[in-house]
Amino acid sequence: MTAISVRNLWKEYGDQIVLEDINLEFAARSFVALVGPSGCGKTTFLRMLLSEEKATRGEILIDGKPIAPEPGADRGVVFQRYSVFPHLTVLGNVLLAAEFSQSPFTARLFGTARRAAEEEARALIAEVGLAGAEDKYPAALSGGMQQRLALAQAIMRKPRILLLDEPFGALDPGIRADIHQLMRRLWNSCEMTVVMVTHDLREAFTLATRVIAFERRRNRPEERERFGATIAKDIEVWPPRIAGQLDLFTPDRDDPVLAEGQGRDDPARRSA
Ligand SMILES: Nc1ncnc2c1ncn2[C@@H]1O[C@H](COP(=O)(O)OP(=O)(O)OP(=O)(O)O)[C@@H](O)[C@H]1O
Ligand SMILES: [Mg+2]
Repeated sequence: MTAISVRNLWKEYGDQIVLEDINLEFAARSFVALVGPSGCGKTTFLRMLLSEEKATRGEILIDGKPIAPEPGADRGVVFQRYSVFPHLTVLGNVLLAAEFSQSPFTARLFGTARRAAEEEARALIAEVGLAGAEDKYPAALSGGMQQRLALAQAIMRKPRILLLDEPFGALDPGIRADIHQLMRRLWNSCEMTVVMVTHDLREAFTLATRVIAFERRRNRPEERERFGATIAKDIEVWPPRIAGQLDLFTPDRDDPVLAEGQGRDDPARRSA
């Protein structure tokens, strides 16, 4: 169970203040959606949760302990594009994730360990709806399939925290609805806390347990660099969603996107 605490967090690049005194507590297994105008520091915030960037001031605690200074297998990430390795097949991509977490120095597995990892990778590939595509290269996959692969690759490392930076932003609406269904299923079944940046408010409310909006308090051109973004809105989604307790196969009553996407191209539903 992984809770995230963000305390008095500031991020500055040179003279530019990007984030200003951010204070947040994310409950273990919550699914937080982060929205806000372009350039307000959403990606920067995610990169600090990944330890790819350091805070200028303040701290981030994971389960009460200071965040590790380097990225690690406990935190997975999926970007809008280019999260997967183009020169490896679907199976190779997912297997590499296992090799990196189980054998960080050589990134190679042998014998029984390799067979076990391959079995697990194949199961996960099926779970994200890519059975049959194990030997394809990413260039031969649609955008939706690539993002499914990126999710499988991230999940294979069993992250306690999954960070998503507009992972579905480039997908068209029908495909997006299907992948939303997958995302909810993964969040529900894997023990992880999710933080997802999105530009799409509807997506935020479709998936998240909590929606947080960043915004600069002052945004006149001459003030832009001197004022960082702060938390403008913090909304608990109602009715509450609790990981492990969702009835994932009932579409949200008022969610036309999910309702419309139900049932298509979703192996779990086919077998359900
Ligand atoms: N490595 C960096 N060096 C200098 N400035 C940076 C760096 N990374 C981000 N910035 C600046 O920080 C601000 C926030 O950038 P960030 O990418 O976090 O925004 P964002 O909210 O993710 O925007 P978008 O919605 O367009 O993706 C921008 O003004 C950007 O130019
Ligand atoms: Mg961004």
